[in-house]
Amino acid sequence: MEYRQLGESGIKASAITFGAWAIGGWMWGGSERKDAVEAIRASYEQGVTSIDTAAVYGMGLSEEIVGEALQGIPRDRVQVMTKFGMRWDMRKGDFAFKSQDNNGKPLDIYKYGGKESIIKECEDSLRRLRTDYIDLYQQHWPDVTTPISETMEALAGLIKAGKIRAAGVSNYDRAQMIEAEKTLSLASDQVPYSMVRRDIEKDLVPYCIEKKKAILAYSPLQRGVLTGKIRPGYTFNEGDNRGDSKYFTGDNLTRINAFLEELRPLAAEKGASLAQLVIRWTLEQPGITIALVGARNAQQAVQNAGAIRVRLSTEEVAMINSKLAGLRID
Ligand SMILES: NC(=O)c1ccc[n+]([C@@H]2O[C@H](COP(=O)([O-])OP(=O)(O)OC[C@H]3O[C@@H](n4cnc5c(N)ncnc54)[C@H](OP(=O)(O)O)[C@@H]3O)[C@@H](O)[C@H]2O)c1
Repeated sequence: MEYRQLGESGIKASAITFGAWAIGGWMWGGSERKDAVEAIRASYEQGVTSIDTAAVYGMGLSEEIVGEALQGIPRDRVQVMTKFGMRWDMRKGDFAFKSQDNNGKPLDIYKYGGKESIIKECEDSLRRLRTDYIDLYQQHWPDVTTPISETMEALAGLIKAGKIRAAGVSNYDRAQMIEAEKTLSLASDQVPYSMVRRDIEKDLVPYCIEKKKAILAYSPLQRGVLTGKIRPGYTFNEGDNRGDSKYFTGDNLTRINAFLEELRPLAAEKGASLAQLVIRWTLEQPGITIALVGARNAQQAVQNAGAIRVRLSTEEVAMINSKLAGLRID
């Protein structure tokens, strides 16, 4: 495994970090707890020492599963990253969307970054994760109803209290990062980034490179479509909302699969799966520190961790990029 610094926080994380959204089941049509625990432990065996979760993933369930999976592993060998600021249990802040929990109960999700809320959320996450500190604590989404300075002050207080080692944000744009850094030095921004979703390259990436901020790229497999297994007509489990995404439907899906077919010979030459090639490409992009990759079971987790062994030359990355330049996504 390769390990990379999270900004100037002094924290080193595994370049391939385990993403624990799907294992919480919420918006992914449920999950198998036993498979999930095995996936995290199998990842750890492969050197994946960092795990990213969030309070809202399964309304606490993902954090509980991470807490269970980490039992027996010395705490200082792993980096636990979680997120706050998506409340499903109170109506305060910026209404985000209507959802339902894993049992079908309707929920309203709010983006909320108020100080008291963060302090409470941190305690709840620590309990579910069965730990007494969080390595990287991130605001899940910006909340337009709370001044960014208030949220950052709360994070500074948690660092001082030893509850968290570093503060990060997620889904922040460049202007929001600049605003946040008037109060606190951030370690990172966690944002969507994949071969088919590269809009951060224009503004956010240059800013993070210049200011030495880590970028945690989320959904690098574009929620599974870049593994090549999602063909037109693929059926998702009930409650798995991926079928509604533009990457999984119509001409986009057809074009993505045609592009992946063009990558297959290179993957075969490397003895790699498409998923491995895609993850390695992600890690080769300027400014990208970490690829946050989700996995449902040990088999996927081990395969994804193996992406670190794939070597891509500058020419090969350029060749992939030139093919991508011709890929239209509407
Ligand atoms: N901050 C945010 O707002 C935000 C948003 C999204 C994600 N994230 C973070 O980023 C992490 C990763 O993103 P993601 O989970 O959305 O998407 P992803 O990593 O692009 O895709 C993960 C999914 O792809 C499938 N998969 C993974 N490896 C595979 C393999 N080797 N072979 C075949 N299928 C494979 C699995 O689903 P199936 O087996 O069901 O197909 C898996 O759940 C999340 O877990 C979360 O930690 C953060």
